[in-house]
Amino acid sequence: MKTSRKLFLLGPLILFLLACKEKPKENPAVEKTQMEDTFYTEAYRPQFHFSPTEKWMNDPNGLVYHDGVYHLFYQYYPEDIVWGPMHWGHATSKDLVFWEHKPIALFPDENGYIFSGSVVVDEKNTSGFGTEEKPPLVAIFTYHNVNGEKAGRSDFQTQGIAYSIDNGETWEKYQGNPVIPNSGIKDFRDPKVFWHKESQKWILALVAGDHAQFYSSEDLKEWEYMSEFGKDKGAHGGVWECPDLFPLNVDGTGEEKWVLLISINPGAPNGGSGTQYFIGNFDGTTFTTTQKDTRWLDWGTDNYAGVTYNNIPNEDRIFIGWMSNWQYATDTPTENWRSAMTVPRKLSLQNFGEEIGLVNYPLENLGTILKSEINRDIVVPAGAEETLNFDHFNQSEVRFNTEAKDLVLTFRNSMEEELVLTMDNAQKAFSLDRIASGKTGFQEDFGSKIQQMPIPNLQEKSNEVRILMDWSSIELFINGGQYVMTAQLFPNAPYTELQISNPSAASIELNEFEVSRAESIW
Ligand code: FRU
Repeated sequence: MKTSRKLFLLGPLILFLLACKEKPKENPAVEKTQMEDTFYTEAYRPQFHFSPTEKWMNDPNGLVYHDGVYHLFYQYYPEDIVWGPMHWGHATSKDLVFWEHKPIALFPDENGYIFSGSVVVDEKNTSGFGTEEKPPLVAIFTYHNVNGEKAGRSDFQTQGIAYSIDNGETWEKYQGNPVIPNSGIKDFRDPKVFWHKESQKWILALVAGDHAQFYSSEDLKEWEYMSEFGKDKGAHGGVWECPDLFPLNVDGTGEEKWVLLISINPGAPNGGSGTQYFIGNFDGTTFTTTQKDTRWLDWGTDNYAGVTYNNIPNEDRIFIGWMSNWQYATDTPTENWRSAMTVPRKLSLQNFGEEIGLVNYPLENLGTILKSEINRDIVVPAGAEETLNFDHFNQSEVRFNTEAKDLVLTFRNSMEEELVLTMDNAQKAFSLDRIASGKTGFQEDFGSKIQQMPIPNLQEKSNEVRILMDWSSIELFINGGQYVMTAQLFPNAPYTELQISNPSAASIELNEFEVSRAESIW
């Protein structure tokens, strides 16, 4: 055979072999699913929220910004749509709106499953894993040793580290793992690490059952215990998980406060999992607060284990939460993947009268995928109602300003299923009722109760209401994130009708009532 003919035949074979070699073998799911027509169009698949291509996901992990890229790692089980041996899945974004799936970053090893944790950019190469010119990314996570757990031991969770010198593409585990052993605390996990400029040290916050512990280090390998917080503070209806500690300026004052986020499961105000926060001070060693009450970042049932980005330019605090609840996380009616993240939200501290509150609100970038389709003022006479039709509220944003303090918004579909949101002035409460919203019977707690959120400090004048609704979720923000509720929904058909009811004795106005279509990010 002529050489050129041989090459002609061999060429495609060589190309095919090369292509096979380059495939991210750890995550065949990404490529397989992408080729199918159904890619990201399955029932309930979120269109503008992050969800894995397939299989089980829970907490966001290792949120870090580096070299123009936002990384999102997440608790991932690539074999099933229920929780299992935990890996770190990985995705990246340039704008926190569109995401690119990456191969799995961390796999379980002889020390255990890879539970939640964080990633830092080791700028000064304190760990020695990279160079100062090419600083390493270092992941700090919990090892969960199932054999230890099965054997009835209490020291089966330890902290380990891994590093990447190619901007998170590939990871090496540290040979000296674990870096923080366990002295016999059953729930000992979820390290969040950050660089503390004032003391020129790494600070690590983790949870130990009913409290948080703080450690410090100079090289991310040797850790020294410093202090603990919280045995007698805040909510204790369940185990503490996923801490985060960071400073924020109080808006408009320049005063700095430290915020400690603690997820708790169970014990959230509307059942199951939820995230509380403490506002206080951190002096490099100890976190203190004078806060007496328990505060919740989000009053809905489905925002858990959320943490913030490390290494963000201009000190913005960007938060992502897991949009589910351990009460029913493994039962929700999706088929080849399970659960999604909240939209990325900016956290800030704001003064509300006497009180400083932690506010969370979608990033402005989200506006790039929102296309306004309805925008007008709406007047609803006393005791009356107005109905708006839109072909797909389940992929939209609805927002308006109103002085009304009594208001009912009902989203309805062709099957008479409805989601009811009520602002009740007498009770100073906002409620979210998903009891008849669609599929609810997959687990007893999902549709059993109306979710309640106290709204004691509304503005006298106009208040802003903003709703982001995707195919299986709603995120509600009042006054730029002063009051927030996030919940999953599984309607049997998209909501196409929105009824605005005015239960009060005077007519109400909803100004600049705007409905925007959200474009799909997939
Ligand atoms: C929170 C959590 C973490 C743990 C991880 C395990 O949802 O329970 O405390 O590290 O999930 O997947």
